[in-house]
This record gives sequence, C-alpha cells and structure tokens, in this order.
Amino acid sequence: MAEHPVFQAVRQRRTVYRFRSQEIAPEVLSELLEAATNAPNHRHTEPWRFVVVRGAALSRLADLRVELQMERSARDGKPPGDLDALRREVTQARTIVYVIQHLDADEKRQREDYASCAICAYILQLTAWERGIGARWHTGQLVASRKVRPLLGLADDEEPICYLALGYPDEEPKPWRKKTAQELTRYVE
Ligand SMILES: Cc1cc2nc3c(=O)[nH]c(=O)nc-3n(C[C@H](O)[C@H](O)[C@H](O)COP(=O)(O)O)c2cc1C
Repeated sequence: MAEHPVFQAVRQRRTVYRFRSQEIAPEVLSELLEAATNAPNHRHTEPWRFVVVRGAALSRLADLRVELQMERSARDGKPPGDLDALRREVTQARTIVYVIQHLDADEKRQREDYASCAICAYILQLTAWERGIGARWHTGQLVASRKVRPLLGLADDEEPICYLALGYPDEEPKPWRKKTAQELTRYVE
C-alpha cells in the first residue's frame, strides 16, 4: 500500500548530527521558513520569528559557545572538554535558524505561543527532511544564555526557543526504538 507523504516523512525523519559543506540555496531556505509559518496558533498570534545565522556570524556564535563552556567549566571546577569539537558543532551545519517566540503580554497566551513555536520548528525540520536536508534541534547554552541576544539582535519581548542546525546529511541517521502508541494509550469509554 502506498504510504501518504506526510506520514512517511514523520515516520522516517531523524535528527542529523553530521553535515556536508554544501550550502542550502537561499530560495530553498525561504520556502522552508514560509512552510513553518503554517503552524497552528491560537488567536492567530503568529508568535514565531526567525533569525538565520550563516557566514561569518557562525564563527561569532562558535566563539560564544566556547566562551560559555569556559565559564561553565570555571564555575564547576571541571575541564572544559574538547573546545574544537564544540566549535565544529556550531560551524559545520553552515546554516543555523533560531526560532524565536515573540512574547505576548498575557502569560497564558505565552504558553500557547510556545507550543505553536515548537510546532513551527518541527514543520521546518520536517519539510527540510522532505527536501533531503537534515536538522538537529538544539537547546542548551546558546539558547538559554543572555549573551546570545545581541548577536541575534533580539528585542526585549523576544525569546529564542531553540535553534536548528540545517544542512545536507553526511551520515545515514539510525532509527531508534520508540515505544508504540499502543503502549502509551489509555482509552476511557
Ligand atoms: C525540545 C527539544 C530539545 C532538543 N535539544 C537538543 C539539544 O540541545 N542537543 C541535541 O543534540 N539534540 C537536541 N534535541 C534533539 C533530540 O535529542 C532528538 O530529537 C532525539 O534524540 C530523537 O531523535 P530523532 O529526532 O531522530 O527522532 C532536542 C529535541 C527537542 C524536541
């Protein structure tokens, strides 16, 4: 039986950790961002904003990653680990897209908007996959730290929810054993 394309993409998509150096064409990236803005959002708040980081700005982001790691290591009294590997983690994808939430004044709405921004990031990841482009969703220090804000040019009412490292895969991502929905579902009748 032929598999429906959305179902197939959802089932087959995997996080990609290693990328080739091939750039994503600007028009392809624009299409992916446009697709992502179809995420459902209550009251049509359209809370998502995007910051695309590429070129020389990737090096600045990598510098910040190293700086934050050094700070953490000094704070925890632990060695900083492989700083070159950290730097490569940021620069190898060639294109990074931050998904930013525009913060509504109403806190209840902020919670709903966060959900919409996460869906938006997932659509970006999924439509990229359909085009042969892999993605790795990142949270961690380069999302949480206030120090990333000037680099991204964020306004006070904007909060990054994640960044997606995007690029053409240089690996065959492996499936992992998920629980089935049947294992996780209770029916109340
Ligand atoms: C909310 C969220 C935060 C994540 N943060 C990170 C992260 O900081 N670093 C990372 O390597 N992967 C991160 N991931 C990717 C997950 O580790 C990945 O989706 C998970 O291993 C499942 O693999 P799959 O995407 O191939 O199904 C994140 C994913 C989500 C949804």
